[in-house]
Amino acid sequence: MITNRTFTMIKPDAVENGHIGGILEKITSAGFKIVALKYTQLSKRDAQKFYAVHSERPFYGELVEFMTRGPIVAAILEKENAVEDFRVLIGATNPAEAAEGTIRKLFATSIGENAVHGSDSDENGGLEGAFHFSSREIY
Ligand code: CMP
Repeated sequence: MITNRTFTMIKPDAVENGHIGGILEKITSAGFKIVALKYTQLSKRDAQKFYAVHSERPFYGELVEFMTRGPIVAAILEKENAVEDFRVLIGATNPAEAAEGTIRKLFATSIGENAVHGSDSDENGGLEGAFHFSSREIY
């Protein structure tokens, strides 16, 4: 099992607001190495599959709509203790509750449009990375 990698997406809101560079800078400054990177747009089917775990939640439709409305940046990041450290770096799901200096505090606008995704476990990090990248796209 991969234990030193996590998966992230810069979501459509942050892309629209011109924050790709700012967010990547925060990520690399925090010591994460980018081992895979892609600028792409999710289809409805992609988003439904990626967020299948939330399919019974009341915000699922809204989430799929949001995540497909424009391009995203997907990346696999490497660092010791990557999953946990990255979740600290991005801050709480709701930017109103995110700590000062975190990516969501700096760049997110609402709980639904919260600028970035971060895997919640090593297992999901591996699955999510494999959803977006083939092995020859990971360096
Ligand atoms: P993330 O944790 O990256 O993945 C699940 C996403 O669902 C989460 O970010 C939010 O974008 C979204 N989400 C979670 N809770 C809510 C909510 N209460 N209302 C709308 N969207 C939500």
